Amino acid sequence: KNHLNTEKIGQVVHFENTVTSTQEIAHKHALNGAEEGTIIIADEQTVGRGRLGRAWHSPKGSGVWMSIILRPNIPPQKAPQLTLLAAVSVVQGIEEVTGLSAQIKWPNDILIDGKKVVGILTELQAEADRVNSVIIGIGINVNTPKEAFPKDIETIATSLKVEKGEEIERAYLVRAIMEKMEKLYHIYLEHGFAPIKLMWESSAASLGKRVRVRTITGELYGKAQGITEEGVLLVEDDEGTVHRVYSADIELPQK
Ligand code: BTN
Repeated sequence: KNHLNTEKIGQVVHFENTVTSTQEIAHKHALNGAEEGTIIIADEQTVGRGRLGRAWHSPKGSGVWMSIILRPNIPPQKAPQLTLLAAVSVVQGIEEVTGLSAQIKWPNDILIDGKKVVGILTELQAEADRVNSVIIGIGINVNTPKEAFPKDIETIATSLKVEKGEEIERAYLVRAIMEKMEKLYHIYLEHGFAPIKLMWESSAASLGKRVRVRTITGELYGKAQGITEEGVLLVEDDEGTVHRVYSADIELPQK
């Protein structure tokens, strides 16, 4: 029994030194019937993966690289709700442990001072129209020194240590996030997505603002109006047409 104040999330935790990707390990555990709430945490990932086929820089010892297995009884199209739930849990956990205020950029980037500090990647195992498991991967730049970020991301990425000016104990952070997630997941299972959506909106960096949306098929400029019950982003273009954005990168205006 660990020291977490939770019933589900994190009751089984697998700590690993070096893995390819905690997502990959979590998929295997999920296929082998791992209990809901099982977590895989690694000190280093050699092939950390990000959204849209990108790599995720996961150096040894300086971040939280983890994947959580959930097994909600929902259809696959509702899975993005859990990404948003995870994002709210991480924002709350970061605030509790560091006092830093973080914002969510749809769908799942967490920013401090406009720079990305957390990425979340949700992957599914589904059969027909039912979710078998949702694997939520969370990558947090915790104690990464400024100079350790690769050149191509150094202006857009940051770490909690850089923002706070001191080292953050990773175990405290993981624990806080698990406890927040446990609470939110109970709320979600009992009351659905609506209360989570409200919390998400209060931390959202993009709502009401002009954004540039880049999808695989093209670009779109418009005002981010809000998210739907499924977690889909609504963007109104200059002609007044509202677009439903399922998967994209969005850019916020420069401050
Ligand atoms: C993104 O912003 O593109 C999502 C990044 C997700 C990174 C995390 S780190 C833990 C888990 N394992 C992975 O390989 N990726 C996710």
